[in-house]
Amino acid sequence: MQANSPVYAVIGDPVAHSLSPAMHNRALAACGLPGVYVGFRVTDLPVAVAGIRALGIRGVSVTIPHKVAVMPLLDEIDDTARRIGAVNTISNESGVLKGTNTDGLGALKALETVTAVDGRRVAILGAGGAARAVAWALSNAGAKVALFNRTVPRAAALARQMNLEWGRMDNLARWRAEILVNTTPVGMAPDAGAAPVAAAILDPAMVVMDIVYNPLETTLLAAARRLGCTTVDGVQMLVFQGAAQFERWTGVAAPVTVMRQAVIEALSPTLTHRHGQAAVF
Ligand code: ATR
Repeated sequence: MQANSPVYAVIGDPVAHSLSPAMHNRALAACGLPGVYVGFRVTDLPVAVAGIRALGIRGVSVTIPHKVAVMPLLDEIDDTARRIGAVNTISNESGVLKGTNTDGLGALKALETVTAVDGRRVAILGAGGAARAVAWALSNAGAKVALFNRTVPRAAALARQMNLEWGRMDNLARWRAEILVNTTPVGMAPDAGAAPVAAAILDPAMVVMDIVYNPLETTLLAAARRLGCTTVDGVQMLVFQGAAQFERWTGVAAPVTVMRQAVIEALSPTLTHRHGQAAVF
């Protein structure tokens, strides 16, 4: 490390369990790039953003609870972040702080490792911030997106805003989704036995993605796999949103395989294995 090595960071509260430092430091090392990526627990956001400027921090990941509040503190917000309504990435370009959002792109890239999305029917479970990012990226890539949410008016409101379809959960099977994406926390440890939808609505031809990554194979993904569906786990989305950040900051192609390995190693002490089975990586 040199005195002028670039510094990257994640800001959030809490950040102690963030997987981003493990993922990004491994990526920097694998590419032979100088720099270090650290976590900052931030409670005073305006002062932290002034700190990014004062210290010349090169790139920053923004996580809960700062993704929306950070927007007015930056110099530029791109169209993607504006449409999603949240920033998860800051690039410090010669003192100009630019905000974007790579969460949706991460979901798109993760799906694209197994399927094309253009023209496909995608059902998104949930209508919160994650659903908004995923829905925007997939519909922008040509998918026909519908939102299904426990609280139906919330799905309807978001769908209207984003010009998408929406439906009641009990109409999900009839909607004939080709791709199903869970953006709700249902199935997350310690409640790993839960699933956001009944296995009966799955079809072997479906691609099923879960943004929950602990357990790595959720109850939903296990049911999908048993039926013969193609599955995409939550670590893939995490890795691909990080890969998009890395590429923006460094201009170097992200080493996604080593980033995934770093995340899984960092997660392994806490990873829940359903029914005592070993997780399949
Ligand atoms: P995020 O920003 O991570 O998407 P959020 O904005 O709190 O978080 O949204 C969480 C989403 O998961 C919502 O769609 C929520 O459904 P409601 O709108 O009905 O609250 C959904 N969700 C959370 N817990 C759920 C549960 N136990 N069953 C079904 N849906 C749930």
